[in-house]
Amino acid sequence: MMFNILKFKTSKITYCLILFGLLFTTAKVCAQDSITKQTYIYKKGDPNGIGKFYMGREIAYVMGYQGIGWLERSEREEEEKTTKLLKNMNIKPTDVIADIGAGSGYHVFKMAKMAHKGLIYAVDIQPEMLLTMESRKAKENIKNVETILGSEQSDSLPENSVDKVLMVDVYHEFSYPAEMIASIKKALKPKGQIFLIEYRGEDDSVPIKRVHKMTIKQAVKEFEIAGFVLKKNINNLPWQHCMIFEKK
Ligand SMILES: C[S@@+](CC[C@H](N)C(=O)[O-])C[C@H]1O[C@@H](n2cnc3c(N)ncnc32)[C@H](O)[C@@H]1O
Repeated sequence: MMFNILKFKTSKITYCLILFGLLFTTAKVCAQDSITKQTYIYKKGDPNGIGKFYMGREIAYVMGYQGIGWLERSEREEEEKTTKLLKNMNIKPTDVIADIGAGSGYHVFKMAKMAHKGLIYAVDIQPEMLLTMESRKAKENIKNVETILGSEQSDSLPENSVDKVLMVDVYHEFSYPAEMIASIKKALKPKGQIFLIEYRGEDDSVPIKRVHKMTIKQAVKEFEIAGFVLKKNINNLPWQHCMIFEKK
């Protein structure tokens, strides 16, 4: 009798637990769905923005491949101190690094020399950018660069594969920043680091349009919600922040 009662009780408890589990999962899925639906707000904004806002920030238009000449301009080193920026990354010869929004590969080929025993994934959504990098790879016989066609919502990288992620002047133009950060998080190894390089939004003297700049406060807000913490901001570049984010 006792056994029966217990059995009855156990099965009732089990039933309740299953029901609770189902309710919890359904609630979680609904919550995720509603976050996804409400993540972005659409309204009229800056002429250089796409009229889509994420956490109060308007997203900028993607820079087309027609701007390759500007990305590769000879005065860029002087203006942005790229060498210093790459030094900030403390690149090791065996590092696996993803340059997301790699463009024409301005940083990719410099990093490929520094991580000569490692690998550089050069991710972009414009096939023209990948073609430009592929032709340089072939011309200079570079073996440790792999170009990857990403999408607006995914970096298309293998999971748990990269030590470092570099994003130079690209994050602010992701049309799905929440999805991109989630995708980057998957690709990054547990102790991996994101180097987020953005023109300083707090500084009016930086000669770049407003929607193409970011403040530290805004970046922290967007990365914290995705499970990252700002390790430090290296303040040694003329125009840009060099923010280092790690997984919480
Ligand atoms: C302003 S360019 C910067 C290129 C490069 N990082 C540099 O500093 O020379 C931004 C690049 O990000 C790319 N991009 C935009 N959204 C992207 C996404 N979701 N995933 C990968 N690349 C993206 C664009 O196609 C463009 O090539």
